[in-house]
Amino acid sequence: MQPIVLELRESWLRVPLGDDAESDFHFRFLRHNCPCDRHPLTGERTLCSSDIADWIRPALAQMVDGDLEIIWPDGHMSTYPRAWLREHAYAVGAPEVPRIPADPARLEIQAAGRSLADQVAAALERVEREGAAIVRRDPGSSVAPEDATEAIIEAFAAAGLAIVPTHFGRLEDLRTDNTTNANTDQLGYTDAPVDLHTDQPFIAAPPRLQLLHSIRAADRGGESVLADARSIFRYLEASDRRVAEVLASVPVRFHRRQRAFESVVDSPLIADTSEREFMIRASYFTLAPHRVDFAAMAELYRAHDRFFRLARDPRNHYETLLRPGDWLLYNNHRMLHARTGFKGPRWVRGIYFERQDPAGAARAG
Ligand SMILES: [Fe+2]
Repeated sequence: MQPIVLELRESWLRVPLGDDAESDFHFRFLRHNCPCDRHPLTGERTLCSSDIADWIRPALAQMVDGDLEIIWPDGHMSTYPRAWLREHAYAVGAPEVPRIPADPARLEIQAAGRSLADQVAAALERVEREGAAIVRRDPGSSVAPEDATEAIIEAFAAAGLAIVPTHFGRLEDLRTDNTTNANTDQLGYTDAPVDLHTDQPFIAAPPRLQLLHSIRAADRGGESVLADARSIFRYLEASDRRVAEVLASVPVRFHRRQRAFESVVDSPLIADTSEREFMIRASYFTLAPHRVDFAAMAELYRAHDRFFRLARDPRNHYETLLRPGDWLLYNNHRMLHARTGFKGPRWVRGIYFERQDPAGAARAG
């Protein structure tokens, strides 16, 4: 039979065991249990796992006649008979560790042929499902992007969403020569890169929705980047449970201190783990020094850094360039967002929304 090459995930692979059964195995577990590392006379183990590099990864893994064959980067080959795999499998029937989505095509909606109300309805539905939506401007539109923002805001209002003003003002003009906002002494109003974060983690109820309306392009750079924090958290729940527990239970402090504004919130990075009300707070630029017991600090850093290494891995990013007239809508409780550095007159308007209850009170959730 032809060998079947297996897909390598981050630190494990899924192995078919016959009879439609399969199990995940960690690379480390497999290397530790290579049949070669046994004394030839006694059969006792001769390898301590502490001698294995933390991030060991096969050069190749394949099924050959029902057995698993692995070639390691140093050329060593390990063969695991199917019977041994079945006996020692520790993830039979376990759901596959979820994948972290990153294809911007999942988020795109074409404005052409849709009314503004339809665009907003489609975007809200997409945000509900995917966490974000990118609405591409109708190339036939004669309205200048600068003049289109208020009509979009009205369409959101008609869909039951009200603007949430912040300490910047009613809406933000994100441009380096800003003259319309308060408290502009922060990165968003520069041309510097802004790495992945959520907005307003330092207030009690961060706004749920943010709209970014592209008005003017940069000469160079200024790409928008999103990472689905909820998917990353689900991935960690399924593959590194203790990290997920620490992220959801150990408070960190967000402290925004500007010349004329100050706000502090203590909260776990993952403030709500549920599917519907999931909420991450994340902002490296307003993160205060951690304050936990000495013996807990290493674990907090491990969890925090594990999460952000996944989030900052470009393979886990939706990356797109907004052209003038395009708009991006995302759930600020679920998605991290970033912007690459740029040169030129880039101008993006930012607006926060919350759903308005029929009674008229904005819902904080
Ligand atoms: Fe932001």
